[in-house]
Amino acid sequence: MREYLTLAEIDQAAQAVRNRIDFQPRVGLVLGSGLGGLAEKISNAVAVPYESIPYWPQSTVPGHVGRLVAGSLFGVPVLVQQGRAHFYEGYSMAEVTLPVRVMKRLGIDILILTNAAGAIHPAFEPGDVMLITDHISLVGMTGFNPLRGPNLDELGPRFPDMSQVYDRALAELARRGAAEEHIVLREGVYCGLSGPSFETPADLRFLRTIGADAVGMSTVPEAIVARHANMRVLGLSGISNKANLDGNTLTTHEEVLAAGKVIVPKLERIIERVLRGL
Ligand code: HPA
Repeated sequence: MREYLTLAEIDQAAQAVRNRIDFQPRVGLVLGSGLGGLAEKISNAVAVPYESIPYWPQSTVPGHVGRLVAGSLFGVPVLVQQGRAHFYEGYSMAEVTLPVRVMKRLGIDILILTNAAGAIHPAFEPGDVMLITDHISLVGMTGFNPLRGPNLDELGPRFPDMSQVYDRALAELARRGAAEEHIVLREGVYCGLSGPSFETPADLRFLRTIGADAVGMSTVPEAIVARHANMRVLGLSGISNKANLDGNTLTTHEEVLAAGKVIVPKLERIIERVLRGL
């Protein structure tokens, strides 16, 4: 494991991707658990296996395909990360967020992050899509901020502002797109935890008290690194399960993947509207 990666190493990874594609991607898209199917809509797709990119973290989780797909999505040149690596797999924060930095070095300034999340807001149901309006970086607050370590000044400042992580204009495009598609779009605060264990009922009551609407094990480190480098971020959570505040039901990875099947077509239509609206 590498605790930190230098700009030269990030650029080495970026060069490996650049060597495989012959166009300039504009938007980066990260597909979360059970959501990889979105990549099937890409035309003129070129797949770059993660093994062929130096320092790139391999995803070890079922439901994560593990490749980068470049091509055109609804007319926009995109680079799609089909399956991500997580902190709980044992990767460092620098490794988990390397793909975002590679995207930045490839000239990408718009990042769409998707994930599967558990609902904490009592009105949210499995199958819902939630627009992330803000996040709680519990893992970062407790010491594992992805920007810990030598600052890469070429990418961004030592103390970056996080007052508006999720871009308002992109959020508005998502709202309008969902409305046009007659899809109910929930909105709320995503809380990022380390995992891999799901939350206890007491954990969940705590998360609800501190203002979280959904909870998951990704996205926050990537969003922080993206904002450090001044990328515009759109975050969409697919609600895969209800948080188990009373302790009477189980949460399983299988239910997370199953909900993805309902969520993918909705996300696809929202993201199509966003991309066409850029
Ligand atoms: N908790 C944490 N992460 C998750 C959940 C959950 O309930 N569902 C999907 N990812």
